[in-house]
Amino acid sequence: MATRRFKKHIACIGAGYVGGPTMAVIAAKCPDIKVTVVDISAPRIKAWESDNLPIYEPGLFDVVKKARGRNLFFSTDVDAAIKDAGIIFVSVNTPTKTFGEGAGKAADLQYWEKTARNIVKVATSNKIIVEKSTLPVRTAHAMERILNANEKGIHFEVASNPEFLAEGSAIKDLLNPDRVLLGTQETKAGLAVRKELVDLYAHWVNRANIITSNVWSAELSKLAANAFLAQRISSINSISAICEKTEADVSEVGYAIGRDSRIGAKFLQASVGFGGSCFKKDILNLVYLSEHYGLSEVAQYWENVIKLNDYQVTRFVRAMISAMFNTIAKKRIAVFGFAFKANTGDTRESPAIYVVKKLLDEHACVVVTDPKAIANAKDDLADCTGSLEFTADPYAAVRGAHAVAVCTEWDEYRKLDYRRIFAAMEKPAFVFDGRNILDHGRLFEIGFNVFPIGKKPLTHY
Ligand code: UDX
Ligand code: UDX
Repeated sequence: MATRRFKKHIACIGAGYVGGPTMAVIAAKCPDIKVTVVDISAPRIKAWESDNLPIYEPGLFDVVKKARGRNLFFSTDVDAAIKDAGIIFVSVNTPTKTFGEGAGKAADLQYWEKTARNIVKVATSNKIIVEKSTLPVRTAHAMERILNANEKGIHFEVASNPEFLAEGSAIKDLLNPDRVLLGTQETKAGLAVRKELVDLYAHWVNRANIITSNVWSAELSKLAANAFLAQRISSINSISAICEKTEADVSEVGYAIGRDSRIGAKFLQASVGFGGSCFKKDILNLVYLSEHYGLSEVAQYWENVIKLNDYQVTRFVRAMISAMFNTIAKKRIAVFGFAFKANTGDTRESPAIYVVKKLLDEHACVVVTDPKAIANAKDDLADCTGSLEFTADPYAAVRGAHAVAVCTEWDEYRKLDYRRIFAAMEKPAFVFDGRNILDHGRLFEIGFNVFPIGKKPLTHY
């Protein structure tokens, strides 16, 4: 009944970090289009309908509030949404396979395929299916075959519209994207879909920033974009290891090289390592793809980006143990930040997971603090044994601690009262700044022994 008020109906399957914010922005910017976001998880849908959204993302609640109940709807009735919508975005998760052929590298497409088969089962009219999930190259081809092998005479046109939003800045990225990428087939039907999707985004994105390509280029561009971003971090992290041996300073080196306009300043912050749901998974996907085509040198090249990242986080923990006189057993260590980056509660592939597990292996007493990620941290560490505490209050975390280990670049960690923290800690007191966000000179003056990434340690001994 309500549908008549709207020019079009879009559905999105998968109300996660990608599907939820993306659809909220489409709905807010296109009041003439009905947007229904569906998910098999009832608690998730309930949360999207409440004041307590299932994910933390700055600005998200305002956008959701604007459109929810007007033209943005959340539901668990997947079949009804499929039937009703002309365009279906698919944003279900595509984790790395944990079993069988390609385990540990290839993408697990079972949710995607299940979703495609369900679309075929319940659809009663032609549909545009848009891949939002990151998928291996040529997935659209396979999906097209599954979808169009129906005997109902229904045509499905598959397009690829990879999402480039970064968590923590999702709303900003969606409202003002560097580019929107639309991959379609270059047939008559494909080009008509291309036009329809361009017109959708043109509600708020300058047409000059809407790029079109063939489907395979769009799929590969998503993997390549994430691989290039991750490669920059591994590159600067490799330089950070050299800095620590040579007394060069990685911030100075990063600044100097970033001033070359051909290199650019972004994504050159050395750190304890990159995390997040995408970088590792997408690079592994690229590695698998390369191996599949017999391109072993290419596979090894990209795999080293991940190896370097693993090395960086291992190095961070080793440096802690070595600085603290080669034993951290029974020492209380406050881990500042558990999210994989600032401004999100997401902890998927967070380097902090590895750091905490390693510290527990060494029998340290670990206390994890984070402004948004405590609930996820508890899940991630549920199987851990040893002395492990959680608190949202960093001042409670440092009481009686020998060391602070900064794992997430939360702005609030810059603003803490470090004199108060020093007073509450055991001496000698250590700070290991895995994000290079603190004022190291000042901490040293207060009395801390300070170990940044890629810089000379400042010690009182
Ligand atoms: C996901 C993919 O992981 C990523 O590769 C892609 O780029 C975008 O989509 P994200 O949104 O972060 O990323 O995943 P997640 O937060 O796990 O959301 C997926 C949602 O799909 C979950 O809420 C899950 O319940 C839902 N889902 C999964 C379905 O509704 N149906 C299914 O069959 C499987
Ligand atoms: C990434 C891509 O940026 C985005 O375009 C894509 O859609 C999904 O994957 P996201 O994983 O949300 O987004 O976060 P991103 O900002 O890219 O950060 C990834 C990781 O790299 C974080 O752990 C971050 O702390 C780390 N990082 C980033 C660094 O260590 N140094 C840097 O200079 C930048």
